[in-house]
Amino acid sequence: MRVLCVNGSPRRDGNTAIMLRRVGKRLENAGGIFDELYLEGLNLQPCGACGVCAQIKDGRCHGRDDDGNQMIERSRTADIILLGSPVYFGSLTAQIKIYMDRVGYVSRTGDCFLRRKIGAAVVPARRAGQLFTFAELNMWFHINGMVVPGSRYWNIGHALKEGEILNDAEALATLDELAENLEWLARRIR
Ligand SMILES: Cc1cc2nc3c(=O)[nH]c(=O)nc-3n(C[C@H](O)[C@H](O)[C@H](O)COP(=O)(O)O)c2cc1C
Repeated sequence: MRVLCVNGSPRRDGNTAIMLRRVGKRLENAGGIFDELYLEGLNLQPCGACGVCAQIKDGRCHGRDDDGNQMIERSRTADIILLGSPVYFGSLTAQIKIYMDRVGYVSRTGDCFLRRKIGAAVVPARRAGQLFTFAELNMWFHINGMVVPGSRYWNIGHALKEGEILNDAEALATLDELAENLEWLARRIR
């Protein structure tokens, strides 16, 4: 069971990272392989809509000479993909949007490698916008034919400064139950 945690925050160790690692590390303790994809650390441009992936259909991006194919390959080999984004002006970050457009488009126009993988999203914010962002991330799972388990609440939290998510006890409990449900589902799907 390979678990890919995609961090769409520019903060490597911020609240999004803490939320993703809390779930991902629990799955690692249950025997999974943990892979952290820190998007800000990669050289990534937005999808250029060249459409070459849809013509060649080899599961690769041919329109950009950057780290896009590394991101695509790590997604292809994952069984579980966790997407994390903080709320920026009521929505998701530019970094996670690049991931969603480029990985999703290559999958959809090719062999649909995302289909039937397991997905879950986590979203911190200071005050508001978590549910809209959570919905955006979940729509990506759904249009790509992924399977999405829930928890006791939506996987969101309240935090401003790095680490403040650790003060949100309900968010942490929600993440722990999400990890439990992901593990349960992954074992049954396998
Ligand atoms: C550019 C920018 C826009 C933000 N917009 C919102 C917002 O619309 N609503 C909100 O509650 N918090 C907003 N925040 C706060 C972040 O969502 C919050 O600090 C979050 O915990 C950051 O997560 P991170 O540590 O993983 O980066 C914004 C922060 C930045 C830098």
